[in-house]
Amino acid sequence: MHNGIIENFLDLKKKLEAEGHIFASQTDSEVIPHLIEVGLSKGNDFEEAFRYMARQLKGSQAIVALSQSPERVLCGIRLGYAGGLLIANHKGETILGSALPAMVPLFEQDMSSSHEVVFLESEEMVTVTRSNTIYQNLDGHMLGKEPVSVAVSDLSSDKGNYSHFMLKEIMEQPDVVGATFKEREDFYNKTISLSDFQISDADVLNLTRVILVGCGTSLHAAQVGRNWIEEFAGIPASAESASEFRYNHLTVDSKTLVITIGQSGETADTIAAMEHALSKGARLITICNSEGSQATRIAESTLNMQAGLEIGVASTKTFLASLCTVLILAMYLGQIRGALNSLQMGVLIENLSTLPRILGDLLGDTGKYKDLAQIISGYDDLLFLGRGTHVPIAYEGALKLKEISYIHAEGYAAGEMKHGPIALIDSNMATLALAPKYQLYDKMLSNILEVKARDGMVAAILTEGDVELGSRVDVAAYIPPVPESLLPMVLTIPLQLVAYYVALAKGCDVDKPRNLAKSVTVE
Ligand code: G6P
Repeated sequence: MHNGIIENFLDLKKKLEAEGHIFASQTDSEVIPHLIEVGLSKGNDFEEAFRYMARQLKGSQAIVALSQSPERVLCGIRLGYAGGLLIANHKGETILGSALPAMVPLFEQDMSSSHEVVFLESEEMVTVTRSNTIYQNLDGHMLGKEPVSVAVSDLSSDKGNYSHFMLKEIMEQPDVVGATFKEREDFYNKTISLSDFQISDADVLNLTRVILVGCGTSLHAAQVGRNWIEEFAGIPASAESASEFRYNHLTVDSKTLVITIGQSGETADTIAAMEHALSKGARLITICNSEGSQATRIAESTLNMQAGLEIGVASTKTFLASLCTVLILAMYLGQIRGALNSLQMGVLIENLSTLPRILGDLLGDTGKYKDLAQIISGYDDLLFLGRGTHVPIAYEGALKLKEISYIHAEGYAAGEMKHGPIALIDSNMATLALAPKYQLYDKMLSNILEVKARDGMVAAILTEGDVELGSRVDVAAYIPPVPESLLPMVLTIPLQLVAYYVALAKGCDVDKPRNLAKSVTVE
């Protein structure tokens, strides 16, 4: 088994072919068995031949190979940080997997206890024989690997009464949000305490820059969080795509705080970005939903998302958990730096305390988004428009729709529409506008009218009671009036549900969309 990319495979293949090896495929993975064969031909046993193979490869990957000999030796190795590899013991069997969720069906056979797993780091190898399991490095030196205990309750993969994990996970969001705030907010003293944040107050005061980094949905959470760090903590902040972070020539030093966001903690680009941040001397924390994952092992501190296991490939509850955690963090940094006074902090904390209830009420009547979904499912192209902190929410809405319903959708800053996308608008193009009542409402209204004037179909998410705009758009769904700091979370709910219902209407596989992986462990 091979998960990753062999960067020097063309050179290796050329050399092997010159030596007489015949290849049956174009894949880079095929050099692996050929190299093991070379290792065996040098008189090595299978384990040493496997190590010989691993030493020839460039790139990040995980590899597992089983010998054909009667001893049936199984070897696994992790090279670099793409491609996780972990080892569990279950009823006398040794199981290798790429990430914890892969172990869930196995663990669920024994719900009563926790399970011990061993995570391999780069250049660490496991050898499993019928009688034992040993760990060594690439040079063959023995390693004493400590197992990590994983509570089975944290890994529940039961769909319950829901038809899809995605819907179940959307419905869990009020609880997830509550758990994120619990024990971090002091409602009496109007303060935030983050016991898992290990950077001293003195160092926080010295920070000159914050960079939030993530991929996919986690990048969108970073983009929203960037605004909050600037607004509530008063520190210059930017959001960067993890896949570009290393190449962007950003000024990163010991006064820079890099915050990575990730559901899995195993995304190869995010891990590479973390390594890069450390090499530049930055302070590094991660907001993560997978305890014990690679990201949590690299970061100085981990802020746990408390979302529980997420199975649906399209992230939902971990997006909201990321948003809430980064918001709490922004408030905490603002508290230390004196950027938020106690009055402002009190208002924010009081507002946050209402969020689980507001989300619960919204989710109590999911049917109201079905009309909107029905109309949208008739279009092939969609533009999601938002302004301010809602721009990344528009990106996320578009991403959810394309991920699970395969409809072409783009998120755009509404003010940018006139600089290009407006040329696309006609009766075949649908626009979903995020237009709640808040400070940029009037600007959004003008953008909506620009679309209507060009025959575009406009669906809008509006604040309850906005009859005026409701009558001017083609179809509207409503959210309750909420304080501005809660709008990114509240607006996300209709977008998740619309994507879900559109995918259902189109008969798509909601939980396992084509071509996508829950955790992308290759660059
Ligand atoms: C994959 C998933 C996305 C996810 C992204 C980042 O592409 O399909 O849903 O947002 O990885 O994952 P992470 O675990 O780093 O948040």
